[in-house]
Amino acid sequence: MAKEYWIGDVQAGLHDGSEVELKGWIKRTRGSNKIRFIVLRDSTGTIQCVAKREDLGDEIFESLKGALIEASLVLKGSVNADERAPGGHELIVTDAELVGGVRADSPFPITESAMVAADGGETEFLLDNRHLYLRTSRMTNMLKIRSSVFGAIHSYFRDKDFTEYQAPNFVAGAVEGGSTLFEVPYFPNEANPDRKAYLTQSWQLYAEAAMPALERLYTIAPSFRAEKSRTRRHLTEFWHAEMEVAWASNAEIMAHGEGLVRHIAKTVIDERESELSDIDRDIELLARYADNPYPRIRYDEAVETLQGLGIDIEWGQDLDYSKEKVLTQDFEVPHFLTHYPKVAKPFYHRVDPDDGNYVLCHDLLAPEGYGEIIGGGERTWSEEEILARIDEEGVEREPYQFYIDTRTYGGVPHGGFGLGVDRVCSWLSGADHIREVIPFPRDSRRVTP
Ligand code: 4AD
Ligand code: MG
Repeated sequence: MAKEYWIGDVQAGLHDGSEVELKGWIKRTRGSNKIRFIVLRDSTGTIQCVAKREDLGDEIFESLKGALIEASLVLKGSVNADERAPGGHELIVTDAELVGGVRADSPFPITESAMVAADGGETEFLLDNRHLYLRTSRMTNMLKIRSSVFGAIHSYFRDKDFTEYQAPNFVAGAVEGGSTLFEVPYFPNEANPDRKAYLTQSWQLYAEAAMPALERLYTIAPSFRAEKSRTRRHLTEFWHAEMEVAWASNAEIMAHGEGLVRHIAKTVIDERESELSDIDRDIELLARYADNPYPRIRYDEAVETLQGLGIDIEWGQDLDYSKEKVLTQDFEVPHFLTHYPKVAKPFYHRVDPDDGNYVLCHDLLAPEGYGEIIGGGERTWSEEEILARIDEEGVEREPYQFYIDTRTYGGVPHGGFGLGVDRVCSWLSGADHIREVIPFPRDSRRVTP
């Protein structure tokens, strides 16, 4: 049963002249009553397989002749290195087994013409058939790049002695403001008929509770935001890599953000060069993101730049996608924006002791118009200040009592950040839309398939 040979290895010339058994799915098939040319694919590549009636006998040949796109096959044969074959190799089939057929009355719906119609984008039709669209080479490439991004995040933090730590997804309060909270009925009872929980927007508050125990911690976990607006960079369920460090300043946290993103870019180049070139991504650009330092600029400077470009923005506003897009279009590398106005950020951001109008925070903005990929900074860490900030924002204290307690008992300066993993995948792969890099995207209109 086990699979011994991979099509990618055959195309790499590892089995020239040998007998092999290839297992995979039909990508394309054509031919006559005597000879079939089947392009077989597996997770590593594609190869042309040549099957002749005279070699296989009528029964086997007829089964191959009737096999449609995405039928699964086991093909035995010998490998020919042949310049004329696509990829430089072909299989001369000596034996064949049709494993899982595809019925003629229900052919595979993702046809080449549907792909051409989508023009690299993702029509509703392709989204409705996402479970099948996953089998296209574009999605295979995206998912492999994504896997390298996840691996790079783990290796970055583990190499630096961070402890991986898990927080609950059902929570009692907001982290990033009430407007994007998902409510879930949570065992309502007679005493509390409206009892509900929320899906977490961030691991952060529960990480801060564990900070005195672990000091350097991280996670990669889903976060949830009831984002009503549909944009190229918002999902309602996204993958969030977050970290928290005791005794760390905003500058130290930024150094980790920069180190992490450069490590991710380098890992993707090292591990996924062929996938990147398959999807036409310029590797030179990624090398720039891996090798060069990321500048830091203050929010005020960014606002001036935008105003200079004639963009309508007032001091105190957070930067939305439209503004970040303009700002980052001509960036050569990611830039940190620091010192946002206090009014633009949630209560947990530490007020700048040098100027109470600002907080000690940062966003990392990716170039090419992608915009924010990281949000982080120092935390309000004294009990007195956190109570004052909670009250000032008009937030109810009760759901945050555990959080306030973390300050009551030996608070220390600390900070952290959250990185949107899907956004990083989207940027590094040059995708037009964040949906392209996650297997089953969730947005305000779609929870299926
Ligand atoms: O800037 P955000 O809201 O910051 C936090 O959640 C902090 N509590 C993180 C922390 O300090 N531990 O979100 C962090 C990042 C954003 O920069 C963005 O990359 C991503 O999460 N993100 C989203 N990605 C996809 N879809 C969405 N709806 C996202 N919302 C945020
Ligand atoms: Mg943010």
